[in-house]
Amino acid sequence: MALLNFAIETSCDETSASILKDNKVLSNIISSQQFHTEYGGIVPELASRAHINFIDQVSCTAFKESGIKPDKINLVSATQGPGLIGSLLVGLNYAKAFSVAKKIKFIGINHIESHLYSCFIGEKDIEFPFISLIVSGGHTILIIVKDYFKYKILGQTQDDAAGEAFDKAAKMLGLEYPGGPIIDNLARKGNAKFHKFPVSYVKENQYDFSFSGIKTSLLYYLRKNYTDIKAELSKNKMLLKDICASYQKAVIDTLIEKTLLAANNHGIKKIAVSGGVSANSRLRSEFKKYTEQGFSVYFPQKEYSTDNAAMTGYTAYLKFRYSKINRTMLEEPAFARFDYDNF
Ligand code: KG4
Ligand code: ZN
Repeated sequence: MALLNFAIETSCDETSASILKDNKVLSNIISSQQFHTEYGGIVPELASRAHINFIDQVSCTAFKESGIKPDKINLVSATQGPGLIGSLLVGLNYAKAFSVAKKIKFIGINHIESHLYSCFIGEKDIEFPFISLIVSGGHTILIIVKDYFKYKILGQTQDDAAGEAFDKAAKMLGLEYPGGPIIDNLARKGNAKFHKFPVSYVKENQYDFSFSGIKTSLLYYLRKNYTDIKAELSKNKMLLKDICASYQKAVIDTLIEKTLLAANNHGIKKIAVSGGVSANSRLRSEFKKYTEQGFSVYFPQKEYSTDNAAMTGYTAYLKFRYSKINRTMLEEPAFARFDYDNF
């Protein structure tokens, strides 16, 4: 019997609902909360309130677009964590209420795990092993994926996430939130060799990341060279683009260097890059160059890069098909445990 899966994702500031038939995405509706830009970052309380306002509408649109009636659904899935607790609660309880009302199975999904598998939505099969680089606003993790749900974490950020490094730099440059896509856009027309921003190395583990230092180096660079950066940027249109290109190069080159080090040291030729920062154009184009050296590099389609419910539903499908633990869990509708132990 086909799995008709209603999936919800509300871990941060996107309200998203998706309908999937087995591993095929029939609809994926994403409502982004633009109003956070005026605060320069996400305000958790406002995010939760907006989820409450939008979840019905987003879910109804997802059903309408898929052509599937709610009564046909036989699996409900929702992001269970990590994320902002108020935001998570809205989606999680909406999904659990749906599962209780319709007497169908519920499965809670790890958000990082759903980013990891987002690269393979639409692919026929997933071949293991591969190196996974997950780069989002909250996480930067390098993992060996040995099989479905079999992970070894090689390294992660010791302070800021890669997305945070972009967002904080954007704030210093007077740009809006989220800064990643804005810096990416400006950097396209800038000179990446304009200034060298140093990236800190973590001595204890060569696969760990540290991005708090680069943010400080941007701050010192701006203070040292410009008495009034805002006035300077409005006079010199190229300056902002050059700073963005140089800063972006430093962050992206570090991500690529460590991922390739992990791949080469473990003799693995397959790499999957996911999370919001995987939308970055330099990250994509630089990684692509390595395909000439025999690497296969997977990225999610752009709509599955930043937070979305299709990846939540796709991971629920994989759990249902390939995980014994979660098949048992599915016998208990509306109850799911955090399953971080094997992550
Ligand atoms: O995965 P995501 O939507 O949410 C989290 O789970 O955190 O990632 C959001 C992050 C933000 O920090 C945003 O600035 C960054 O992804 N981002 C980008 C780009 N698009 C989104 N960073 C660099 N370049 C981009 N094109
Ligand atoms: Zn995310």
